[in-house]
Amino acid sequence: MKASFRDGNPQDTSADTLIVGLFEDEDVPSDLDRALGGRLSKLVESGEAKSALKKTALLHGDGAINAARVILVGLGRRDDFDGEKARNAAAAGYGRATGAGAKSIGIAVPDGVDSEVIGAAFTESALLTGYKFDRYKSKMEDSGENGPESLEVNSTNDIGSTVEAAAIVAGCQNAARDLQNLPANDLTPGDLAAYAAKRASEVEGLECDVLSLTDLQDREMGGLLAVAQGSRHEPKLIVLRYDGGGSGSTFGIVGKAVTFDTGGISIKPSGKMEEMKFDMSGGASAIEGTVAIAKLRLPIKLITVVPAAENMPSGHAVKPGDIVTMSNGKTVEVNNTDAEGRMILADALVYAASEGAAPIVDLATLTGAILVSLGSTYAGLFSNDDELCAAISAASDATGELTWRMPLHPDYKELTKGKFADLTNAANIRKAGSSYAASFLEEFVDDKPWAHLDIAGTAWDQQGRDYVGSGASGWGVRLLVELARGLSSK
Ligand code: BES
Ligand code: MN
Ligand code: ZN
Repeated sequence: MKASFRDGNPQDTSADTLIVGLFEDEDVPSDLDRALGGRLSKLVESGEAKSALKKTALLHGDGAINAARVILVGLGRRDDFDGEKARNAAAAGYGRATGAGAKSIGIAVPDGVDSEVIGAAFTESALLTGYKFDRYKSKMEDSGENGPESLEVNSTNDIGSTVEAAAIVAGCQNAARDLQNLPANDLTPGDLAAYAAKRASEVEGLECDVLSLTDLQDREMGGLLAVAQGSRHEPKLIVLRYDGGGSGSTFGIVGKAVTFDTGGISIKPSGKMEEMKFDMSGGASAIEGTVAIAKLRLPIKLITVVPAAENMPSGHAVKPGDIVTMSNGKTVEVNNTDAEGRMILADALVYAASEGAAPIVDLATLTGAILVSLGSTYAGLFSNDDELCAAISAASDATGELTWRMPLHPDYKELTKGKFADLTNAANIRKAGSSYAASFLEEFVDDKPWAHLDIAGTAWDQQGRDYVGSGASGWGVRLLVELARGLSSK
């Protein structure tokens, strides 16, 4: 779907379906109502159109305006209205419009709101709500229903560049969702590396380097090599570099990309194991967040590091009790081969820190425990730096990609100590699993300002987010872009 901005009043839209918001205790837009012969206000008076958030009502244009139909969407109270409510309301309007067969949608930014914030939210929401992953459905099963082809954001303020930027970000988020959805037979570490290189070639100023098996051996990346050794697919370390100028230091992004996590020799139960194709979600958001930042030409220097591996059991897989040496020289007992994310992230964090990245933010579907603690509402945020946490928290507020700070503590660090080696990748007591994992990662950041986002809950099935719905969410793309905006303006 193509998104564009149109400067003007909603009643002049060229779209076949116009979505208009309705605030509690307020009138409908008077010009539009007049053009429709007062039928819009009648719909509200009759009680059919409701102002409660996400409620929708439909009215036919009957030739009075260009649009064949108008959809009124409840926006709730004006005082409470914000970007996140706008995203959810727009998703409801979009759903009603597609249900009515809309081929082109116009959405009106209400008067008196922050038109940049709400215009961006409407744009993102429509593009995200319209996302489908149906490339594996054979044509015969095709229902023949194609969604809207265009989105026109109407405002009397010039928000053209905001709409354009929001469309770029939403497009990258949808691309991250495609990566998440791809089955592991069609997205191996090599496939992901090739994808990143192709994306980089499409964007000016974005460079991609892929480190292959022998490079990883030369750099003694024992963690990444150990996880990958059970699979016939070789591991890759994907490195993206972007220099948009700016006076600050290089922002580092790291994303876990386990293209399939069977657990390895410490194998997972078979129930729902298919969901472990999503274990590359952090890497997907890291790559697509980087593409978005580069496409927007944000004035920041960036290095993104994505360790990619497949975690498989086999005759040559890493075994519980094996001891490996990581690229910073620390030794680790692999006591649970299912705690593989921290092993590959460790080497990637060492790489990012050695390249001078600061701050470093990593995203990873790291622990089942974070799903138990925070569900799919918040990502767990672990950090050694209060200032970075404040920046992440501000980006969460702006994007609706929520984070909740969780603790690091010397007690958790104690759990990471190995019996025979410096560290163990899994404590033998099941306590504070997410904090333990974060404490393990901290051993590899070389005291740089760092934050770890555990997205095992938010990466898919986000309840209450109508614009992403069930399945792959692409969580983190919007947050990374907003964070880069914040860091670059400092
Ligand atoms: N990829 C999983 C984490 C995960 C679990 C994500 C469930 C989404 C849903 C990770 O590699 C893992 O297996 N973690 C283990 C760690 C344990 C063995 C210490 C876990 O959380 O059970
Ligand atoms: Mn695992
Ligand atoms: Zn995993």
